[in-house]
Amino acid sequence: MERTLSIIKPDATARNLEGEILSMIQAEGLRVVAMKRLYLTTEQAGGFYEVHKERPFYGELCAFMSSGPIVVSVLEGEDAIARYRKLMGATNPEQAEEGTVRKKYAQDIERNSVHGSDAPETAAFEIGYFFSQLELVG
Ligand code: CMP
Repeated sequence: MERTLSIIKPDATARNLEGEILSMIQAEGLRVVAMKRLYLTTEQAGGFYEVHKERPFYGELCAFMSSGPIVVSVLEGEDAIARYRKLMGATNPEQAEEGTVRKKYAQDIERNSVHGSDAPETAAFEIGYFFSQLELVG
């Protein structure tokens, strides 16, 4: 069993897509073991995306991620990290495969509707950023 962090981003909550995206997640067989809706400050978004601090898109990314509500959840399942990344599709929606969340809903490389952890270490950091042990109900 593995856990990964998912974020439904402000471009998706603005279009009322939370239910559609959670349906795709559950249809894939991943279990939602924690979930909350948040409105991040720019600083809180910056802390989450600390690894991208030196990237040219960091400032805009933090502004976007604090421009509206997000829904964060912890997904559990066998190979949850890789399975959720496959379900999300490529970061750039122009390269995303048919049937993926980003192919269906992403607007561009920044407003790409969802985030998912990319490795076990990042998943541990990202889950801990938003949830305490008590909030993870498997
Ligand atoms: P995410 O998977 O959340 O990881 C970092 C985010 O930065 C990415 O999705 C996009 O929302 C955003 N981003 C904006 N521009 C780029 C870019 N050129 N390359 C990668 N990510 C980008």
